[in-house]
Amino acid sequence: MSKQELQKKAYDHSGVTYEQSQKALNLQPSIYERIGKEEGFRQLSTLFYNRIFTDKSPSSTWFLNIFSSSTRGEAIENQYRFLVQTFGGPKLYQEIKGKYTRLVGRHANYPIGNRAAIQWVEQMIKAMEDHEVIREDEEMMQALTDYFQYTAHYIVAGMEYMRPDQVRILWNMS
Ligand code: HEM
Repeated sequence: MSKQELQKKAYDHSGVTYEQSQKALNLQPSIYERIGKEEGFRQLSTLFYNRIFTDKSPSSTWFLNIFSSSTRGEAIENQYRFLVQTFGGPKLYQEIKGKYTRLVGRHANYPIGNRAAIQWVEQMIKAMEDHEVIREDEEMMQALTDYFQYTAHYIVAGMEYMRPDQVRILWNMS
């Protein structure tokens, strides 16, 4: 499957075009500046993962289980470093994970389908609404929502087309 076909699939599921999703990367001033640099992103990742790790309702068990091989601290650290690097800050993710981001590959061992993408984005939107800086900046809120929405569905689309030998654990994609 070509990159264009993957982008089309991500668009079909998210309703966000690739171009729209990229707006967050090019906002002026950058999202890194607007959010309050490292501290602002650390708050976002903490709000996001606090929601996920403390939601023990039976209807969310399947989603929490996806994160069972990580601690909350590790998950916050990884995501926070990635966001700082992606939205205009220093290359904190590269420092610990190397040059390549490979978001699709890095999610390949987790059982993630469309339902998980929808749930992930829903939790991220709630975390952004709880974030004191993001919720006051409509342009940043919209750009980040589009970015997350598209990227979550791109990850799912990309994983469906990975060769079986690239995926270490077999799981049901439904
Ligand atoms: C589609 C729904 C998604 C699910 C269910 C999901 C789930 C996960 C899980 C279980 C991990 C491992 C936690 C850890 O130890 O770091 C992870 C890591 C990560 N996720 Fe996601 N994720 C999703 C979407 C996204 C999106 C949209 C982004 C981009 C903003 C993202 C960025 C990351 C990053 C940067 C890591 C750390 C990877 C590493 O370096 O090991 N994820 N995700």
